[in-house]
Amino acid sequence: MSDAVKVMKQEVGKAAAARVTSNSVVGLGTGSTTAYAIQFLGDRLKSGELENVVGIPTSFQAEVLAKQYGIPLTTLDATDKIDVAIDGADEVDPQKNLIKGGGAAHTREKIVDTLAETFIVVVDQGKLVDRLGSTFLLPVEVLPMAIAPVMRAIEGLGGKPELRMGIKKAGPVVTDQGNLVIDVKFEQIDDPVALEATLNNLPGVLENGLFVNCTDVVLVGEINDGQPSVREM
Ligand code: A5P
Repeated sequence: MSDAVKVMKQEVGKAAAARVTSNSVVGLGTGSTTAYAIQFLGDRLKSGELENVVGIPTSFQAEVLAKQYGIPLTTLDATDKIDVAIDGADEVDPQKNLIKGGGAAHTREKIVDTLAETFIVVVDQGKLVDRLGSTFLLPVEVLPMAIAPVMRAIEGLGGKPELRMGIKKAGPVVTDQGNLVIDVKFEQIDDPVALEATLNNLPGVLENGLFVNCTDVVLVGEINDGQPSVREM
């Protein structure tokens, strides 16, 4: 990651963390951009600028970062509301629909992000697309024993599935829930609402990375003339 990209991600994360108010429950997303939001949220709590904020992590990564930056955590058993969730995305279309799951965390992310009163997405400009699926494969979390039938069913839907393999780990990626991830290339995703439901209806599929009609705010980091800035989409 170049220094300019790092600064841009930091600025977007900071802009999202600045929207959090005292006495709130915050969904803590996953990924390199959200990591900065978690860091800045921790800074605001530490300085006393914010009080009584608790987080609900969307992944093991978010949990570790929250502990590192001093954000107290709670669970969905202990609270009946999430005020705001901050999370990254892999693609964002003009209707603010998303593909997520590049970090294999989309199942817990969808639970937390869709429960939030306000869902803020933090991305860089390279994530903006006209149509979902144009740059990123669609992640699908699957129970290990159902991998073969789910892959065949996805081929039947016109998708090209591939099992996500680990980096610096032999074998497939295993999610925080102990499942596997299939990344699917669809020629084009015309109807994300229908595809989200169709995929989730396959026996053995836990969740897919289409996030439809749930985003409230998209904060976009840009670099113009070498200078990072943040705009709201
Ligand atoms: C995690 O599974 C994903 O949904 C991430 O939120 C997404 O990959 C964005 O990550 P970056 O901010 O690192 O691009």
